Amino acid sequence: MVPQVKDTDELRRQAEQILEDNDRGGYTVPSSMLYPFQWNWDSCFTALGVHTFDPDRAWRELETLAEHQWDDGMIPHIVFHEGDDRYFPGPAVWGTSGQSPRAADGILTSGITQPPVLGMALEALWSRTDLDDPALRQRAMRLLDAADRWHQWFVNARDPHGQGLVAIIHPWESGRDNSVDWDEGLTAVRTDRLLPYRRRDTDHVDAGQRPTDADYDRFMSLLQTFRSHGWAQSVLHDASPFCMIDPGFNACLIASDRSLARVAGGLGRSDLATRATLRADTMTSALDALWNPGLGQFSCWNRVAGTRSDNASVGGLLPLLALSPSDPRSTLLMARIERWMDVAPFGLASQDPTSEAFDPVRYWRGPSWLVVNWLLVNGLHAHGRADLASRLIESSLTSVSTSGFREYFNPMTGQGLGGHRFSWTASMTLAFLAKLRRC
Ligand code: DGY
Repeated sequence: MVPQVKDTDELRRQAEQILEDNDRGGYTVPSSMLYPFQWNWDSCFTALGVHTFDPDRAWRELETLAEHQWDDGMIPHIVFHEGDDRYFPGPAVWGTSGQSPRAADGILTSGITQPPVLGMALEALWSRTDLDDPALRQRAMRLLDAADRWHQWFVNARDPHGQGLVAIIHPWESGRDNSVDWDEGLTAVRTDRLLPYRRRDTDHVDAGQRPTDADYDRFMSLLQTFRSHGWAQSVLHDASPFCMIDPGFNACLIASDRSLARVAGGLGRSDLATRATLRADTMTSALDALWNPGLGQFSCWNRVAGTRSDNASVGGLLPLLALSPSDPRSTLLMARIERWMDVAPFGLASQDPTSEAFDPVRYWRGPSWLVVNWLLVNGLHAHGRADLASRLIESSLTSVSTSGFREYFNPMTGQGLGGHRFSWTASMTLAFLAKLRRC
């Protein structure tokens, strides 16, 4: 049984303090030592918590991210606002200078992207906004257009053969860097020509809680391959030895497109609402191909090998965000969520806790992450399971109140893992506390 959180005011105060400390002026670093730049989906989640105490600053967080959108529409996964060699790989390793829109000001970016949660974040801010304020309508309109261009980029660059779902070409794009989902696809990534490098993450975090060196070699090999193609996104999908269809990633894109359609409707942008709805409908039908009846959940598809994965990760539960409540598969997904929480009660495990591959402390191979819990809390509410959503919120908050604002948590014990004073954990704490107050 997970204990109840007692001092919620103190938790809120600490969370706000962390977000203020990690604020670098217009953008927030995920954690000062481990991730000292702006990360795409971190910023989107961070904006949600910041909005509970400083709405203007929350809008700015999203705007700063969108200012670094490439001409082709991609919003990159890291924006290197300032030099800091505590992180590897830095801007010189990515070598994207020609494509970064603020390269002339010395602000470079990475060359890959991250899960598209900007649409959901925009709607969350928008829904708490005074809709008569013309300045805010303008700000929302600009972000809406940026997100729409990004989503169209996904269709063009990551589904170039029109199969209906978008691919990731690097595990870092999934946000679930070293998930068991990628093990098989990564075997096709050669490392014999890898240039020497030194990782820095294990200077800050216990190596047992991070991806292995073998994973890192493949992450770096992919980066070097893409760089050798001059970051021409139009060729990378077909050139990459790693090309995976992640149900979780596609579910985020669908949910974000539905968010864009609603915001566009409110702003009188019916053209954009129609486009976003069409994209979401197309992807939702295509998701059927990822349903894995043997598992009773969704699983990944390897576009290079043409094979389906039989691994059960939390990525395969995230389509709860995309299915309609009348779809019988949503009942099966929710039964799995409940079962996983019975076995591993602190948040939701990132890998089936009854599977052999489950590792409760190693990054995305088992630990629970508050941002994923937040996504699924929304999915559970949409499917009428407020009871399970509350259980997930309570167990997430308990992990934080007993172990601090850590990057992720052991789902069996609630032990804190990875980075400390982590922005998205602070932000999700604020978002969950706000949800509890609204209930
Ligand atoms: C890292 O460096 O661990 C990041 O997850 C890449 O985005």
